[in-house]
Amino acid sequence: MNPVVSRSDFDRYMVPVFAPLSVVPVRGEGSRLWDQQGRDYIDFGAGVAVTSLGHAHPVLLKALQEQAAKVWHISNYYTNEPALRLAAKLCAATFAERVFFCNSGAEANEAALKLARKRAVDKYGPEKIDIIAFNGSFHGRTFFTVSVGGQAKYSSGMGPNPAGIVHIDLHDEAALRRAVGKNTCAIIVEPVVGESGVVPVKPEFLKLLRDLATEHDAALIFDEVQSGNGRTGALYAYMNTGVQPDILTTAKGLGGGFPIGAMLTTAAIADAHFTPGVHGSTFGGNPLACAVAEATFDIISSPEVLAEVRRKAAHAATRLRAIGEKYGCFQEVRESGLWLGCELKPEYAGRAGAFMGAAAESGVLVLVAGPNVVRIATSLVITDEELDTGLDRFDSACQRFFAA
Ligand SMILES: Cc1ncc(COP(=O)(O)O)c(C=O)c1O
Repeated sequence: MNPVVSRSDFDRYMVPVFAPLSVVPVRGEGSRLWDQQGRDYIDFGAGVAVTSLGHAHPVLLKALQEQAAKVWHISNYYTNEPALRLAAKLCAATFAERVFFCNSGAEANEAALKLARKRAVDKYGPEKIDIIAFNGSFHGRTFFTVSVGGQAKYSSGMGPNPAGIVHIDLHDEAALRRAVGKNTCAIIVEPVVGESGVVPVKPEFLKLLRDLATEHDAALIFDEVQSGNGRTGALYAYMNTGVQPDILTTAKGLGGGFPIGAMLTTAAIADAHFTPGVHGSTFGGNPLACAVAEATFDIISSPEVLAEVRRKAAHAATRLRAIGEKYGCFQEVRESGLWLGCELKPEYAGRAGAFMGAAAESGVLVLVAGPNVVRIATSLVITDEELDTGLDRFDSACQRFFAA
């Protein structure tokens, strides 16, 4: 018999890089989760924008079970049918002509950054390695990606960071023009900055990034790890901006909860510079992950599902703004599809984390994006009933937390 475990075992056995809430979810269905005591929660976090089709979606269960009975893992000495089908679908639906599969967002960005440097060094020599990135951005937890990410707290105290990385403020055109030059190999940006507050980048700034990258033959990398796969109501957020990147990275919602990441690019960039042996991954493109991701992709790429995301997002934003007014708690509610950032008023600065616990007590699981933003990222197929029940519980949480 398996031993009985509880939240306290986390402190006893786990490396304490996380500080999980007291709730231990044991089962999920749609946008509902149940904990060890049988209490139900509306899931407004979707595993940090990952379970794009909710929990236990029948189509994903079928895809997983069918593939599990065929073959789980074969290594990249062989290719496999689910990976080939998924890659073909990603290419057909986007600007991309080549796909590299990996297991996470950080690995997708690691691949993108290595590819951008390799391309520039191959073409122009060893000086062209500068990467322009933005303060407040987040690109993952490998040492290269935390160094490129614009939050020093994640990369400090671990010895020297990789050289050639320049951080500037988002929307600071003058700083951007000063920073970009002949040695720039890449500009990396999240089209909607997720971890620091669900902040959309202005299309005209993205256009400037595109123009400067083209002028200096640098790769424009869009990190769509969080903004991709239908989250914003477009299949990928770049599709709403009129700006096309050279490399796009994604993960999170791509696998609907099964770990998978992908780097998408053009044939010209991939074929000339990422030749056999230059980069790789043991698990990347694993048939189980790709089978689930393919089934996920078939659903989230449908125009009807994306239209529903936009409709429900507008409804959620309207209700959240009304809740913000009722309790005087939010300074702004930003909506990028079913991905919403409720920015706390200055008098509640730093309290987003504490609110997360209060929301769980009211039966709704939310996220934060930095200390001042309550972030909501629901399943893309959340039902109207689940959404309204979650918003009712969110309202109760606000009443208890802000009006008490
Ligand atoms: C924009 C962005 N890039 C990269 C990552 C890293 O992804 P992962 O945690 O799968 O490595 C995240 C994760 O939050 C993210 O939001």
